Amino acid sequence: MGTADWDSSIQGDDVRRLLESYLDQGGNFLDTAHCYAVWLDGGKGDGRSERAVGRAVRQLKVRDRVIIASKGGHPTINDAYQRPPQTLERKIVERDLADSLERLQMDTIDLYYLHRDDGITPVAEVIEMLNEFVRQKRIRFFAASNWSTTKLQQANAYAATKRLQGFCCSQVCWALATPTWKIADGEPTVRYPLDVDRRWHAQHHLPIMAYSATARGYFATEGKAKEGYDTQENAGRLARAQQLAKQLGKTTNQIAIAWLMNQPFRVVPITGTVKADHLSDTMAAEGIRLTDQQVRWLEKGQ
Ligand SMILES: NC(=O)c1ccc[n+]([C@@H]2O[C@H](COP(=O)([O-])OP(=O)(O)OC[C@H]3O[C@@H](n4cnc5c(N)ncnc54)[C@H](OP(=O)(O)O)[C@@H]3O)[C@@H](O)[C@H]2O)c1
Repeated sequence: MGTADWDSSIQGDDVRRLLESYLDQGGNFLDTAHCYAVWLDGGKGDGRSERAVGRAVRQLKVRDRVIIASKGGHPTINDAYQRPPQTLERKIVERDLADSLERLQMDTIDLYYLHRDDGITPVAEVIEMLNEFVRQKRIRFFAASNWSTTKLQQANAYAATKRLQGFCCSQVCWALATPTWKIADGEPTVRYPLDVDRRWHAQHHLPIMAYSATARGYFATEGKAKEGYDTQENAGRLARAQQLAKQLGKTTNQIAIAWLMNQPFRVVPITGTVKADHLSDTMAAEGIRLTDQQVRWLEKGQ
């Protein structure tokens, strides 16, 4: 469950109720970040999501039932959230991690992501730093978000040669509909896994945590919420998802989520809804089995 909108689109007791409903439906995984929700409070809203997560988990006394994932090392976002170019330099990440633990009021973050690759810090330094945080019990596992497959491979190869912990998964933007925005040339950030990336994940058994997994409600609204997804290719995927949904007695959104969960390697969809009924719709995708042929057809139409 994504929490970027906690303490913004949803507040107070409603946050606790949403978490309660998520747990009741078998959910156990909360995704937050140091920079959420920096877009609020005139650009100074970072920490709101982490504080809301910490508060709701304490109120419900469920720390032992949830996996807490947070992220640090994000580059500059606005005037208030300024970073030097080397965002993965130890002093930056260490500060972010300390802030996150303090905001969450927790001793340990279960899964800690580096939010973006800075394209500067050598993978050896990154892996050594994160393993030290593990030894200090400030984090349990770590992962990369928006990193290229090439860099993931280099980092995990270094970890393997040193018998250290490596990245245990990768968080990228991924849904049955492909977003229209592009990453500028030369940016170290990547977002969307191509066929070649997916083959690597399957080969190395490295899971993907897919963010914006509902394509921002594109499938749940039968294509009405199409901002950022308005292409012929996506319209075709939507039509096929609708057809299969009718055939299997599921919702279109559930088929789109099931498409992610039926990839040839482990994929964990991260949804961003703050509405209980939308959450239930997505959660009911758990257990839908699609054949390899259906998975291919939904995406490629053949
Ligand atoms: N690592 C990164 O760089 C990165 C970047 C972006 C996001 N994330 C993480 O991923 C999480 C999810 O991202 P996201 O918010 O883009 O996910 P998303 O679920 O694809 O999009 C959320 C939007 O879709 C709507 N929606 C979701 N499920 C729906 C349903 N069943 N019916 C109708 N509308 C639905 C939501 O509206 P309602 O609230 O009205 O349902 C909301 O406007 C974030 O909270 C964050 O934790 C990570």
